[in-house]
Amino acid sequence: MIFYFSGTGNSRWVALETARLTGDRAVFIPRAGTICKLRDNEPVGFVFPIYAWAPPACVTAFIKSVQFDNYQNNFCYFIATCHSQTGNIDGIMKKALAARGWQCDAGFSVRMPNNYLLAPFVKTDAPQKRNKLLRNAQTRLKDIAADISRRTSKFDLRRGSKLLSLIAPLFQKHMTAKGFRVERDKCVKCGKCAEICPVNNIRLTPFPQWGSRCEMCQACLSVCPTAAIQYGRYTKGKQRYMFSEEYLNED
Ligand SMILES: Cc1cc2nc3c(=O)[nH]c(=O)nc-3n(C[C@H](O)[C@H](O)[C@H](O)COP(=O)(O)O)c2cc1C
Ligand code: SF4
Ligand code: SF4
Repeated sequence: MIFYFSGTGNSRWVALETARLTGDRAVFIPRAGTICKLRDNEPVGFVFPIYAWAPPACVTAFIKSVQFDNYQNNFCYFIATCHSQTGNIDGIMKKALAARGWQCDAGFSVRMPNNYLLAPFVKTDAPQKRNKLLRNAQTRLKDIAADISRRTSKFDLRRGSKLLSLIAPLFQKHMTAKGFRVERDKCVKCGKCAEICPVNNIRLTPFPQWGSRCEMCQACLSVCPTAAIQYGRYTKGKQRYMFSEEYLNED
């Protein structure tokens, strides 16, 4: 059973592809129940995007609270989608799973197009690079699925520098919904931002208002058809990113 979280669609595609290639099923974490019945010998997978070299908060919260029915030391793995580096994601996941008495048998990272826009000089990938990353990911997922099917215990990650663990908390501290705002003259009140939010954190009044349980997934920012949503000082004028299967067939 694959549990996944995704804001702009990369990790959703990775989870669904992995499910297809391994003959498994995928469940979106915000819609998963608290009790999940596992089949005999079914692998348990977690698929999610890397946020400041860590998993999204809802993924760690889910690991803390989910109850597995029929858990018999099932093979357990994670796949972290990232743009460049995962930091100490295996350390974090091993610790979170060990706290529940579960072993983390394998961990993989998959490079995907960038969706992060909140810092200066950071932007989404140009179409050619974006499409190339997705095609490479498609090939990589076949290898990962083979490892999962063989129950191979391995950690194959783009960790980057060990120093990332030191700066990660500084970034995480600033990741709050407080930075979101809407440019009212651009907002057409379509409601797409509220509709896509995976944790129902947006209220329309009729302009969007952000609550406090934001995952920082960027879905609202990316889905807005008029780019009316900004975050802090650095998102204005930048191209947004949202996964599309069509990119896999483009040059
Ligand atoms: C708040 C935030 C922080 C991010 N931090 C990292 C990071 O530390 N390392 C990295 O390689 N990519 C980082 N990214 C990029 C995403 O992990 C990557 O684009 C991911 O595939 C997006 O997945 P999704 O489309 O399923 O939401 C970050 C993205 C966001 C929104
Ligand atoms: S408010 Fe926006 S960034 Fe925050 S969780 Fe919802 S969609 Fe994601
Ligand atoms: S998606 Fe954009 S245009 Fe639509 S309601 Fe939200 S902010 Fe307004």
